[in-house]
Amino acid sequence: MRVVVFTSRKGGSGKSTLCAHLSVYADAPNAPALLIDTDPQGSLALWHELRQAETPVSVKCEARDLPDTIEAARKDGIGWCFVDTPPHNTADIAAAMRVADLAVIPFRPAVFDIAAMAATLEMARAIGKPVLPVINSAPPRRGVQAAHVVTEAREALFAMSATPWAGQITTRAAFAHALASGQAVGEFEPGSAAASEVSELWQETRRALGIRGSKK
Ligand SMILES: Nc1ncnc2c1ncn2[C@@H]1O[C@H](COP(=O)(O)OP(=O)(O)O)[C@@H](O)[C@H]1O
Ligand SMILES: [Mg+2]
Repeated sequence: MRVVVFTSRKGGSGKSTLCAHLSVYADAPNAPALLIDTDPQGSLALWHELRQAETPVSVKCEARDLPDTIEAARKDGIGWCFVDTPPHNTADIAAAMRVADLAVIPFRPAVFDIAAMAATLEMARAIGKPVLPVINSAPPRRGVQAAHVVTEAREALFAMSATPWAGQITTRAAFAHALASGQAVGEFEPGSAAASEVSELWQETRRALGIRGSKK
């Protein structure tokens, strides 16, 4: 079983969004995915209520109860745990990082968000967890050329000795519309550019965990 935590010290960076979309990719009949919502705001729990499909399974959990929840998931044969976190509760974020195999850190290519990355990275380093910084809500590429702000954001991360994902999640209404109907983009708009970005991010998540071969 793998545990991926979605975290950043900045609200609105896309933690809940990416957590929901990726969890549907990870979900498999023989190894179901579990969404663990530790954010009192309960975005993922709400998404799950709107969802017709029963999987991925979703559970609300206090951050301090994460070790027990993860252990129970392991016994239940869960393949992947995706943990969503609140932006401001340091103790809760640290507790989530501690149980994680990988911390996915979404950030918008904007100055305040990049500034907040330093604190998130420092925390992951102190706890000793690998990170996957992901540029979210990026302006669309022009052909293969990333927007200037995206290139700058990437350089800022390199300057913090972090390596962001080479891809990007673009600002697309489909991400929000899919969630509002309890779906992931791959279900809402199969074959769309949005679905293909999430698929690439899923492959990168697997790579970051050292899993070889592609799935979906
Ligand atoms: N790539 C995107 N394209 C369009 N809207 C997005 C994207 N990522 C996030 N959003 C929207 O931005 C808002 C904040 O995202 P959310 O995932 O709730 O952030 P967080 O969980 O980090 O606070 C939500 O309304 C969400 O629908
Ligand atoms: Mg959230």
